[in-house]
Amino acid sequence: MRNQIRYKKRFTKQPREKAVDEIASEQDIRKELVKLYREEFGKSPDILTSAPGRINLVGEHTDYNGGYVLPIAIDRRTYTAAGRRGGELFIAYSKELSKKTSFEIQPGKFEHSNFWVNYIKGACTLLSDMSPVKGVNFAIGSTVPRGSGLSSSAAYVVSIIEAVSRLHDIKLKDIEVPILAQRIENEFVGVQSGIMDPFVAKFARENNAILVDARSLEYKYVPISDRCSFLVCVTGVKRALATTEYNKRRQQCQIAVVGLAEKLNRNITSLRDVTLEELKCLKNDFDPTLYARSLHVITESQRALQTFAALENDDLEFVGKLMLESHLSLRSNYEVSSPELDAFVEIAEQSEGVYGARMTGAGFGGSAICLVDADREDELAIEIAAKYKARGFEGGYVFIARTGSGSKVEHA
Ligand code: GLA
Repeated sequence: MRNQIRYKKRFTKQPREKAVDEIASEQDIRKELVKLYREEFGKSPDILTSAPGRINLVGEHTDYNGGYVLPIAIDRRTYTAAGRRGGELFIAYSKELSKKTSFEIQPGKFEHSNFWVNYIKGACTLLSDMSPVKGVNFAIGSTVPRGSGLSSSAAYVVSIIEAVSRLHDIKLKDIEVPILAQRIENEFVGVQSGIMDPFVAKFARENNAILVDARSLEYKYVPISDRCSFLVCVTGVKRALATTEYNKRRQQCQIAVVGLAEKLNRNITSLRDVTLEELKCLKNDFDPTLYARSLHVITESQRALQTFAALENDDLEFVGKLMLESHLSLRSNYEVSSPELDAFVEIAEQSEGVYGARMTGAGFGGSAICLVDADREDELAIEIAAKYKARGFEGGYVFIARTGSGSKVEHA
């Protein structure tokens, strides 16, 4: 990990919207959260857990199609301080929202006005299927920007699962954690998200990307060269359409699978089962939108494998080329990019010292990432943010993301 101080000093000189990204050290954040917990609940927490946000290098919208993803955890995390209170009541304090709320997990009613509580309810309800879950106090804080395509919700829900399961001595296998987290988002929050985000929140390793086969859930790590750094370009655009459009893409892929099975006359359970050659043969005989969606998924999954190999060979130029290909396919075939994301990518691609850039996460706003020459990270962060602003886009900012590790549990 390179020098965080240098990075922090740089950012204190920036205008307000960029200064948001001066994050305190992990140690300070933990200390502050424990203090907050004591103030709110009058005693120390029993446990402190955390889980990271992520960027995805290549392999977007492939996980729910049984394909490959290649995410990396970042050094921005959600922290949960928690303690047993017994009884049926749960009390949660959110540092970001400065909001305290109490609830019971039964009946499992969806809370529209306290959206964030649904994740906790989901975690406690699913864990209580394994063993009785009693009331808990929570103080939750996060440095993962929310609604920015950096997987703040998986970081949040994984840290909650780790806390509640430990407090109730529910022994989960490691792999059960992301599976439960995905179920919570699907069944309790209403987003049909795939396994990628909670998977990396649980299993990530510092200085490594993790290649996950979203069908078998096998995974392997690949180190990231210290010649490069990642910039995260947060567009500042809230992903208003994200949930509906995301669920719609997912549905289109399912319809494509049914159509392709019929045309190829064989059993296909996901787009993973179709080769590029097979798809191309059907170009004039398949719905154009479904064709474009399938084309993206099939080529993107291949790109994730190629990117893994390029990282193994330390071929950063090729990684960058694959990132751009990925972006173009997400823009034109999958249609999940936005003018802001395209602008960031275009600006980055024209800058000296950038290997490649692309949108990351579900899209429709959120964030883009750039793989840059480590020696130029500071200048590029400033330059790209300034050019983005000069194009008339307000509220965006850029930060240098260090790699992070998967979830952590410690007794407070
Ligand atoms: C969101 C979902 C993931 C994945 C990405 C797109 O982050 O949570 O499961 O589908 O979008 O790649």
